[in-house]
Amino acid sequence: MGHIQITPSILNSDFARLGEEVARIPGADWVHVDVMDNHFVPNLTFGPAMVEALARVSPVPLDAHLMIEDADRNALAYVEAGCGSVTFHVEAAKAPVRLAREIRSAGARASMALKPATPIEPYEDLLPELDMLLIMTVEPGFGGQKFLDLCLPKIRRARALMDKHGVETWLQVDGGVSLETVERCAEAGADVFVAGSAVYSAQDPDAMVAALRAKAEA
Ligand code: DX5
Ligand code: ZN
Repeated sequence: MGHIQITPSILNSDFARLGEEVARIPGADWVHVDVMDNHFVPNLTFGPAMVEALARVSPVPLDAHLMIEDADRNALAYVEAGCGSVTFHVEAAKAPVRLAREIRSAGARASMALKPATPIEPYEDLLPELDMLLIMTVEPGFGGQKFLDLCLPKIRRARALMDKHGVETWLQVDGGVSLETVERCAEAGADVFVAGSAVYSAQDPDAMVAALRAKAEA
């Protein structure tokens, strides 16, 4: 397992001052940007132009989470926009192996996400192609939802498969991660933690990043 990383999501931050919002979390490892197209999920956020602008001012690299249809045709725009990691949903990719290879050869870390009802087992052999696996712990689309405990066994199974294959793939969790739930995820084998509302509803977002890290490392 890699070292613990905290990647705050700006989804519930103030979109009118995104540059200032990312400057409030210098202690984060990445900034998680949730790209939504109103088709794959019932919500709409921003596209490559805004991500590119944010990449220019962010103190840490961007971790793009693409909740968009037709990932095969749209993902590379986020590598070009300057993201250090690009996550596509397997449910939205026609050729996930080709896409992961394209993201890597374009110069970013390649990552694949699974919605809560999507099992890991059919994708076991893809793990060596991935720099990170994202296991959603809410149905994607909105911040501030309740953590789904039913996802914990899948996190454990994914970690066991990574051990079996001897891969260095990071295991990210996203959705409802807070001081209450972060330890459960870490204990199950996650090492990269997205937290949106927990960080941006805190008085001091950077102190919350540190607190989440301390709990995950405990
Ligand atoms: C949800 C997004 C998440 C969201 C997490 O679809 O993918 O990244 O911002 O927000 P919280 O931490 O509030 O669940
Ligand atoms: Zn996300």
